[in-house]
Amino acid sequence: TRTPVNVTVTGAAGQIGYALLFRIASGHLLGADVPVKLRLLEIAPALKAAEGTAMELDDCAFPLLRGIDITDDPNVAFDGANVALLVGARPRAKGMERGDLLAANGGIFTPQGKAINGHAADDIKVLVVGNPANTNALIARSAAPDVPDDRFTAMTRLDHNRAISQLAQKAGVGVEDVKKVTIWGNHSATQYPDIFHAEVAGRNAAEVVNDEKWLAEEFIPTVAKRGAAIIEARGASSAASAANAALDHMHTWVNGTAEGDWTSMGIVSDGSYGVPAGLISSFPVTTKDGSFEIVQGLEINDFSRARIDASVKELEEERDAVRALGLI
Ligand code: NAI
Repeated sequence: TRTPVNVTVTGAAGQIGYALLFRIASGHLLGADVPVKLRLLEIAPALKAAEGTAMELDDCAFPLLRGIDITDDPNVAFDGANVALLVGARPRAKGMERGDLLAANGGIFTPQGKAINGHAADDIKVLVVGNPANTNALIARSAAPDVPDDRFTAMTRLDHNRAISQLAQKAGVGVEDVKKVTIWGNHSATQYPDIFHAEVAGRNAAEVVNDEKWLAEEFIPTVAKRGAAIIEARGASSAASAANAALDHMHTWVNGTAEGDWTSMGIVSDGSYGVPAGLISSFPVTTKDGSFEIVQGLEINDFSRARIDASVKELEEERDAVRALGLI
């Protein structure tokens, strides 16, 4: 029998946590044959709610679930962690300035980065879901100097999945016929969902759609503002789809992308495609055997260049702001 994989989930008592934990425990994170131990990190006032969720997890009698620990101490939560899903974050309150938001998140992601540095397993893989995800990942990454760059990622998989779904609907095909969609830049309204290299049933997606007005005025804004549209419709932010994307992100990272396809991940830039090295920005990546590579050699047209640059500029501003606060 396999040794259980230690999976740490922060913000476990939140709404994404509730949509995520049961699927991790039933094998949707790593595979239906991989046993897991869950470590739930919450702030003290939410520990009781996390215990309630743990009671429900027990009540599912999941054969793959080999234990649940609940704590408000990051050093305990990340001890021996192989996989870390950093979901808990400080949301923007009404009237909050960006500097205050980033400072509050620095208070969360700096100690978590340090705890990962000091206590996580050598093969640790980190996914930051909590917003602002790219910059929170940068903060955590910077607090963990002994952990390699390629272990810190930020989630743009929900945007990627949203783009696939919108494109499939426009082209009148099933989602399985859509490949090689890319999300570039920040997980924010400036993100750029790129279909110029995407394929619809084996044909170039931009040519199949052949509608630049739709691309600029419908597709891109629909994908980029989908989070706000969900809040408007549901009265709460996306949770099940975000949890699903977190599972997809980690599952793809561990198990690999399919031949002839790629995915989108926020990763530490190596300078590819003019994205300054060190920024955590979304790229097209292929994954294999637990590691990933940026897809190289894609031609970037003027339409794409302007949009990638705008999102990267926003990431640089966020980086400069957290640098000014001494967080990186
Ligand atoms: P939520 O407010 O329901 O839950 C957040 C949980 O985090 C709360 O239980 C809170 O007690 C906990 N928390 C706060 N500080 C913590 C700390 N220092 N350590 C551990 N836990 C802590 O929020 P929800 O809906 O679950 O969303 C979580 C985050 O995910 C938000 O930042 C949201 O903006 C983000 N998100 C990101 C998406 C993406 O595509 N990257 C998509 C959807 C949401």
